[in-house]
Amino acid sequence: MKKSKILVVGNWKLNPGTKEEAQKLVRAVINQTKKITENVTIAVAPPFLFIPEISKLTVKSSVKLSAQDAHFEERGACTGEISPALLAPYDVLYIIVGHSERRALGETDEQINKKIQTILKRRMIPIVCVGEEERDSQGNFYKHIEKQIYSLATGLTANQVSQLVIAYEPIWAIGTGQTATVEDVKEMQLFIMSVLAKLYDRQTAIKVQLLYGGSVKSSNAKELTSEGGMDGFLVGGASLQADEFVTIAQLATGIKNK
Ligand code: PGA
Repeated sequence: MKKSKILVVGNWKLNPGTKEEAQKLVRAVINQTKKITENVTIAVAPPFLFIPEISKLTVKSSVKLSAQDAHFEERGACTGEISPALLAPYDVLYIIVGHSERRALGETDEQINKKIQTILKRRMIPIVCVGEEERDSQGNFYKHIEKQIYSLATGLTANQVSQLVIAYEPIWAIGTGQTATVEDVKEMQLFIMSVLAKLYDRQTAIKVQLLYGGSVKSSNAKELTSEGGMDGFLVGGASLQADEFVTIAQLATGIKNK
C-alpha cells in the first residue's frame, strides 16, 4: 500500500514583504486548517527570516514548518548560508532542496545529494524537487528525471530513501499557469516509482511520498488529485492566499490510495 497520508506544502518563496503579513497569512492558514478533519499534513515554507516568528504560531497548531533550502555544511566558511542545525530549534520538519529556482542559480545534483544526507542526519525530511525544463516528443525528458533521481539517491540506503519526499515540478509549469495534464502527472508518478523500484525495491519505492508542483490551484487540484496518483502538492503562488491554499489541501484529501 502507498502511504495514505497526504502532504500539501506551501512554498512562499520571497513572500510576503513583511513579518506582520507573514504572521497574518500563517494565522489564517492555521484557522482554516481547523476545518479539515481528513488525513492531510499541511506545511508552510516561509523565507528564513520569518521562521522564528512563524514557528511560535505553528508549534501550537497542526500546521508544520518547512524551510525553502539549507546548506549541506552544519557550520564553517559558508557565507550567506543557513544550516539544518540552525533551523532545528524552530521545529522545522521539512526542508525543500533542489528547487528549480535554486538549480537555476547553479545548485548541482551533487550538492543536492549532500544536502539530503545532512538533512536526514538531523532527522528532518527533505522535499527534493525534480523536473524537466521542457518536454520533447521522443520522451527524452524521462531520462533527465531518471538522472536526477539516480543522483539524489547516491549513497542513500533504502531506509534513508524511503524517508524522502520527492516533488515532481516540471519547470515549464512553475508560475506559468500551465499545468501538466493528469495523464502527464500519472505517467510521471509511475515512472518515478519504477526508477526507485529499480534502484532499491518496490517496497522502498512505495514508501517515498511523491508530490506534484507547478501552477496548482483550487480549480485544477481536484482533477490532479483524483487521477494524478500523487501523494499531495507543492504549491507556490496559490499558497499566498490562505483560503485558496487550504481549499487545495481539502481537495487533495480526495487523492486515491494506491
Ligand atoms: P507555482 O510554484 O505553484 O507558483 O507554480 C510551485 C513551486 O515553485 O514550488
